[in-house]
Amino acid sequence: MPAPSLTTKRLLLRQWKESDLSLFAKMNADKHVMEYFPSTLSQNESNCLAEKIQKELREKEYGLWAVEAIDAAPFVGCVGLHYQDFPAAFTPCIEIGWRLAHEHWGKGYAFEAASKIIKYAFQTLRLCELVSFTTVENQRSRKLMERLEMTRKPEDDFEYPKLPKGHPLRPHVLYRLKNQET
Ligand SMILES: CC(C)(COP(=O)(O)OP(=O)(O)OC[C@H]1O[C@@H](n2cnc3c(N)ncnc32)[C@H](O)[C@@H]1OP(=O)(O)O)[C@@H](O)C(=O)NCCC(=O)NCCS
Repeated sequence: MPAPSLTTKRLLLRQWKESDLSLFAKMNADKHVMEYFPSTLSQNESNCLAEKIQKELREKEYGLWAVEAIDAAPFVGCVGLHYQDFPAAFTPCIEIGWRLAHEHWGKGYAFEAASKIIKYAFQTLRLCELVSFTTVENQRSRKLMERLEMTRKPEDDFEYPKLPKGHPLRPHVLYRLKNQET
């Protein structure tokens, strides 16, 4: 079953449209947005990533939603849930993640979208736990996790196995959020 659209005061979280792809590619080519990723993405790499994202959102009840600012911007980025099963102490798990175009940072959009998705994950999907992780230095993303009341235990810190040993982005922090109602 495809993931449903979700709405907040200012945002529509929806399935992706063809017209999102060029804006997604622009943001994936932006050094600010990609500062804590191994590299920026070419248009082709961005389109391949968008295809994988859309597949998950169409086939499961969750995924990374395209985020639209109602009456303000047709595509500000993506926020959502992703199944992860790379080898780590905390996997398999469902991760909450985000990536917004730089001009849409500092407006509370990621927080607003993520808060709605957490409600959906806990109340509708009845998930027991969500995690989020990022490289140690990514303070903006960590601040967002903390604003969402996710908590980190230093003993959960880990080396991200998809990056080679010694890569400066490899040391990661893990934040967790438990569903209090399950
Ligand atoms: C991580 C990321 C999504 C955070 O975006 P953000 O806009 O800082 O996050 P929020 O939605 O929580 O917004 C918070 C900011 O908006 C401000 N704000 C303005 N209006 C607001 C409102 N109505 N409600 C809440 N916050 C508001 C807050 O004061 C805060 O500002 P500050 O950064 O000066 O403290 C963004 O930096 C990003 O896309 N980064 C690149 C991708 C990335 O690294 N992803 C994570 C990889 S694991």
